[in-house]
Amino acid sequence: MNILVIGGSRNVGYFASLRFLGASSSYHRMEGSLLIAAVEVGHTVTFLLRNTSVFDNDADVQQYLRSNQAYLVVPLPSLLKPVYGYLIAVPHRDKVGVERVMAHVAGWKWNDKEDGELVENVLDAQGRWRNGLPTEGTLKEVLVIRPAIFTDGDCLAESGKKMCRVSEKELGGWTVSRKDVAHFVADAALNRWGEFKGKRVNIAY
Ligand SMILES: NC(=O)c1ccc[n+]([C@@H]2O[C@H](COP(=O)([O-])OP(=O)(O)OC[C@H]3O[C@@H](n4cnc5c(N)ncnc54)[C@H](OP(=O)(O)O)[C@@H]3O)[C@@H](O)[C@H]2O)c1
Repeated sequence: MNILVIGGSRNVGYFASLRFLGASSSYHRMEGSLLIAAVEVGHTVTFLLRNTSVFDNDADVQQYLRSNQAYLVVPLPSLLKPVYGYLIAVPHRDKVGVERVMAHVAGWKWNDKEDGELVENVLDAQGRWRNGLPTEGTLKEVLVIRPAIFTDGDCLAESGKKMCRVSEKELGGWTVSRKDVAHFVADAALNRWGEFKGKRVNIAY
């Protein structure tokens, strides 16, 4: 898989990227009457970064850069600018903005009360989308993750100590570690996509 990561310089985006880069997935295919079993080692990650020097002293990322599994890109490709602008240009309202944009491109209904008030600059005065976003319903396979409050704790899922709860309903959980969220991101994308695609889920201990 080729993965584009926005916000991968640190924390959840970074930990999830390392998981994608280090993951292997096995697959089977038929060639004539032969069943071929193969293991695909690692995935390709392209980091969109404001500052590529963040990885100068990162031995893990440097190793993936040398093996052409990881790529660093700056500045932004112009096609991504509209979505990217909404994603992180307005820090205090970023999550509602991101989700509103994703709901639009995924063709989901939006409920101001449950999902959040519309953020400014997403629609123009006539209620039209700005900056030429893809048309409604263009992206069928989107997963939105709404984590509880982050901690810098270990990845408990990996050590088998605790699994996060993941649900489309409110969970009432207080915290979750960034590393566990990253673990879920990679697991959902690589192993459980059929279960989670097209959903908005909460994640907490
Ligand atoms: N804190 C919580 O309890 C909590 C709970 C749920 C969800 N969240 C959300 O989860 C997300 C991930 O959080 P985190 O703690 O893992 O990450 P973080 O430490 O907030 O890192 C944010 C990432 O986004 C990049 N970024 C921020 N502003 C940017 C901009 N204007 N242009 C380009 N890149 C930008 C940063 O890159 P640079 O290195 O260039 O700065 C960094 O890679 C955030 O959106 C956060 O709001 C947080």
